[in-house]
Amino acid sequence: MKKHHHHHYNHHHRHPTSTTTSFFIFSLLLHLHIQPSTSDPSDEACLTQLYASFQDPTHSLKNWTQPNFANPCNGFDSHLQGATCNNGRIFRLSLSSLSLSGTISPSLSKCTNLQTLDLSSNSLSGEIPSELKDLSNLAILNLSGNRLSGQIPPSLYLCAYLNVIDLHRNRLVGPIPQQLGLLVRLNTFDVSFNKLSGMIPPSIGNRSGNMPRFNATSFQGNKDLYGYPLEPYKNKGLSLMAIVGIGLGSGLLSLIVSFTVVCIWLKVSEQKMAAAEEGKISHHMPDY
Ligand SMILES: *[C@@H]1O[C@H](CO)[C@@H](O)[C@H](O)[C@H]1NC(C)=O
Ligand SMILES: *[C@@H]1O[C@H](CO)[C@@H](O)[C@H](O)[C@H]1NC(C)=O
Ligand SMILES: *[C@@H]1O[C@H](CO)[C@@H](O)[C@H](O)[C@H]1NC(C)=O
Ligand SMILES: *[C@@H]1O[C@H](CO)[C@@H](O)[C@H](O)[C@H]1NC(C)=O
Repeated sequence: MKKHHHHHYNHHHRHPTSTTTSFFIFSLLLHLHIQPSTSDPSDEACLTQLYASFQDPTHSLKNWTQPNFANPCNGFDSHLQGATCNNGRIFRLSLSSLSLSGTISPSLSKCTNLQTLDLSSNSLSGEIPSELKDLSNLAILNLSGNRLSGQIPPSLYLCAYLNVIDLHRNRLVGPIPQQLGLLVRLNTFDVSFNKLSGMIPPSIGNRSGNMPRFNATSFQGNKDLYGYPLEPYKNKGLSLMAIVGIGLGSGLLSLIVSFTVVCIWLKVSEQKMAAAEEGKISHHMPDY
């Protein structure tokens, strides 16, 4: 009780100082509030070059024009459609289903505060830039439903905060990089319906307890991918055997068929010749 009283007295006594401090803090906050709207040069380069690599035939990216690139953030809002800001930096890009084509610029890696990158359900082609490794805050990567080709960059494992990697329905080739197993936070991983090959790295397909880390649906639709949680061995070997078998079988069959046809033809013409010969003979006979 006594302590409280003392405190109150003290506070009251310092009132003029307190007002000055409050004013100082207020000015500082005002200053800080204005500060975020000044541009970040690396975000500006990121967005300008990303837009240059896109094709936007339906003009979906409204306001993605030069004056807005220079000043992309206004508090949490952005003048750029699909962009979200935090502390004056681009922190989310959600550009799903906007009929975008073209490629993904490697300069996207300059948006270093990016946490969510969703370019899903467009028609983007070319490779996934390995430069994405510089997005050290990236938690969600969704590039599904595009026409991306080339390999999955192994360096993606350097984005240590990745929770979600969704690359399903693209044209990706090559193996699943075993380094991705190092992403301890990864809880969603979908590479289904690509053209991936090789064995699923145990670090990705590994079971935790009785359950696979990611179930078979994450890997389906890749003809040459094998290993747990898919079938343990390539069935490519089996189908190759089947193809050889069918090839040999049909070859042998056609050989037998043509041989038989030739035999029959020979037999028929032999009989005809014999008959003709016989006719000749019988024709000549009465003369004798
Ligand atoms: C487009 O940008 C202008 C400023 O350049 C801004 O006033 C306007 O609100 C923006 N529109 C949208 C939809 O964000
Ligand atoms: C990725 O985007 C697609 C299409 O927009 C969506 O259906 C899918 O659920 C997303 N993936 C994740 C893991 O959220
Ligand atoms: C598979 O997971 C178990 C724990 O669930 C772990 O001890 C083991 O090292 C893992 N194996 C590989 C190849 O990642
Ligand atoms: C795979 O897992 C997802 C959710 O994690 C679940 O919805 C789906 O039914 C599972 N599929 C199989 C075949 O177990």
